[in-house]
Order: sequence, then structure tokens, then C-alpha cells
Amino acid sequence: MILETRQLSKTYQVGQEEIHALRGVDFQADSGDFTVINGPSGSGKTTFLNLIACIDRPTSGEVMIEGQSTNQLSESHLAELRKHKIGLVFQTFNLIPVLSAYENVEYPLLLLGLNRAERRKRVMGLLEEVGLKDLARRRPDELSGGQRQRIAIARALVTEPKIVLADEPSANLDSETGKQVMGIMRHLNQDHHVAFIVVTHDPVVTQYAQRIVKIRDGQLSEENSRGASTKNPAA
Ligand SMILES: Nc1ncnc2c1ncn2[C@@H]1O[C@H](COP(=O)(O)OP(=O)(O)OP(=O)(O)O)[C@@H](O)[C@H]1O
Ligand SMILES: [Mg+2]
Repeated sequence: MILETRQLSKTYQVGQEEIHALRGVDFQADSGDFTVINGPSGSGKTTFLNLIACIDRPTSGEVMIEGQSTNQLSESHLAELRKHKIGLVFQTFNLIPVLSAYENVEYPLLLLGLNRAERRKRVMGLLEEVGLKDLARRRPDELSGGQRQRIAIARALVTEPKIVLADEPSANLDSETGKQVMGIMRHLNQDHHVAFIVVTHDPVVTQYAQRIVKIRDGQLSEENSRGASTKNPAA
């Protein structure tokens, strides 16, 4: 199992008020999975992604990556783990404006210390896979929304992560472009055998799921999976 959460909970404190953003979530994902987590605004989607990306820490429960609990890891260990094992795709693309498409995709590889030839091979390979090899020299502001998101997807995969997490990847795209981007993600998921977990409230995105999980008020329920019918029986 590449990713597993056990009774994962997150409570935010705002003044006197406690907000239970996640309430005991059990979730599992395997290497080739393409899971879409579907839920309305405020249901806990981003909170969940931030926890499994090891960007934020749970209030209780744990995140296991490749069978290893992350609770005891130091900040620097978590940073290493993110760098090597996790790729992120955001709603707003988060590209670096002064860098070209090529340089944006290359950036995580500089952090990994790969040599120039290896970097070039990986970057050009992924730009080709997302259909943007010819636009490698353009800056983000010289690209369309869909093209920017494809660059962000190439950047998420270039480190050869085990898990790719996407938060509302179609939110800033029209539905045709959203479909195109999802098609590319699904393709990459199959080719690279990486676990994709996409959170969204967009039905267009959900069409591309191999497995759909619903989130409501910080609790998950499985809609159609190959294995168990429901997880997380109500507490
Ligand atoms: N930093 C925070 N401090 C306090 N409360 C927060 C914080 N982040 C999120 N929340 C609350 O936790 C709950 C879940 O928020 P979250 O951002 O995970 O929802 P979401 O499903 O991603 O929503 P959206 O679809 O609008 O992005 C909401 O009630 C939200 O107000
Ligand atoms: Mg969100």
C-alpha cells in the first residue's frame, strides 16, 4: 500500500470555536489507483490533501507512506519525503512566472541535485507526454490556462513520485480544457503507475475516476471501489 490513513483527524481552533475539518478518516491508495474525492465546499478536501502531502500535521490519527508512519518524522524528514515521493498539482497552477515552461518543470530536479543531462531527458520526456514540447521556452503568462496546468502536471511527475495529489485541477479551466487535462492525468497515471488522488467538486473531473470517494463534513465514504463497499462507518 503506497498510502494509508488511519483515523485521521484535524481540528482547527478559531478563537473559542473548534472546527472539526476531518473526523477519523481511513483511506488507502495503491500504486496504479486513480481516486477522485468528491465533496462540496468546506467538506475537508484541502485539509485532507495537506495532511497526506505531509504539508500539515494531523490533530490525531496518522498518515502512512509506503507502510511507514509519518507522525514521528522531523520537519526535515518530511521535506525530503515530499521532495522524493509526492507531486502536487494546484487549482491555480502555481508556476514561477519568471521561469520558462522548461525551467518550471526542471525546478524540482535542481532540488534533487540531478545532473544537466538527466534533467534534460526527464523534462523533455514529460513535456512531450503532456503535448507541450514545442512551447518549452514560453513563460507561464504566454500560455493558456490548460497549457499552464499541463506544465504543472509535468512538474508534479518529473521527480518520479509515488503519489500525485491534485486540488481542484480544473477549477480555472473551461470544461473542454478540463477534460483534456484530466485525460492527460489519467494517461500518465497508467503509464507511470503512480497513485493519483484528485479532490474536486467538478463532475467533469469525476468522470475520469477509477474510484470515487465522497467526503462530507470531514468523513469519507466509498462510492464504488474494487474492494470494500464502505469505509469509515459513522462514528
Ligand atoms: N486554517 C484554517 N483555520 C480554521 N479553519 C479552517 C482552516 N482551513 C480550513 N478550515 C475549515 O475547515 C473546513 C474544511 O476546509 P477545507 O479547506 O478542507 O474544505 P474544502 O473541501 O477544501 O473546501 P473548498 O471546496 O471550498 O476548497 C471548513 O469548515 C473550513 O472553514
Ligand atoms: Mg479546498
